[in-house]
Amino acid sequence: MRLGIISALAEEQHGLIEAMEGPYKRVHGMREYTAGKLWEIDAVCVLSRIGKVAAAMTAAILVEKFEVTHIVFTGVAGSADPEVNVGDIVVAESLVQHDFDASPLFPRYQIPLTGLSHFETDVTLSDRMAGAGQQFIEHGLGGVISPETAHAFRLNKPRLHRGLIASGDQFIGKRGQVTQLKAALPALLAVEMEGAAVAQVCFELGIPFAVIRTISDKANEDAATDFMHFVKTVASPYAFDILQRFCLA
Ligand code: ADE
Repeated sequence: MRLGIISALAEEQHGLIEAMEGPYKRVHGMREYTAGKLWEIDAVCVLSRIGKVAAAMTAAILVEKFEVTHIVFTGVAGSADPEVNVGDIVVAESLVQHDFDASPLFPRYQIPLTGLSHFETDVTLSDRMAGAGQQFIEHGLGGVISPETAHAFRLNKPRLHRGLIASGDQFIGKRGQVTQLKAALPALLAVEMEGAAVAQVCFELGIPFAVIRTISDKANEDAATDFMHFVKTVASPYAFDILQRFCLA
C-alpha cells in the first residue's frame, strides 16, 4: 500500500509531516506533496485547499504522479443530523455531491455517464479508520485534549457514526440549508466541501478510499464561529491521534 493522505487545511493534518521518516517534498500544480514513511506506512501527505475542484485535482495527481494505491481524506465537517454533535466523528460509507444537478437531463445528484449519485467508500479502509476513531474516543481524547477544552466543547463522550456525507462548494451556515438537504437526502449525517469529489476521482481511477470527518459545527447560524474555534484548537489533536492509530493498526 502507498497511502495518499489529503486534508483541506493544515490544521486537519497537523504534525503528520513532522512524524514522517525521510520526508521528501515535491511541488506540483501549486501544492506541496510530502512522501515518506508514516509509522511504517508508505505515505504521501498533501493539503488540497477548500472545495471540490481543488480536492479532485489533488486526488488525481496523487494517483497519477505519486502513484498512491489508496487514499484517505481527513478533516472537519458540519453536522446535518440532530444526533451528530460537535466533537463526534463521522466515517463515510458513501458520498454525494449535494450541489450537482443536471436534471432534467439526468436525475438530481447523478454524475452523468457514471450512472451514480452516491459513491461508496472502501469497506476495509473505512473499517480501519472507524476502529482508529473509536479507539481515539475511548483512549486518546483524554491524552491529547485538556479537560478544560474538552469541557468547553462538550467532548466528554463523543460518538462515532458511519453513513452518508454530502459535499458541495458551499459552506453551510443556515439552518434552512440543512433542512432542505435533509429533505432530499434523509440519511445525511454531515456536510463538507471535498469528500465526494475525491470519491468520484477514486471511483473513476479504481482507487480504494475512505473519508473521516470530525464535526466542528452544526451547519447553522453559529457554524462559521464554531468552525474557526474548533479548527484552531481541537482539529489538530483529533487528526494526528486518529491517523497514528490508523497507521499502526
Ligand atoms: N466543513 C466544516 N463545517 C462545514 C459546513 N458547515 N459547511 C461546509 N463544510 C464544512
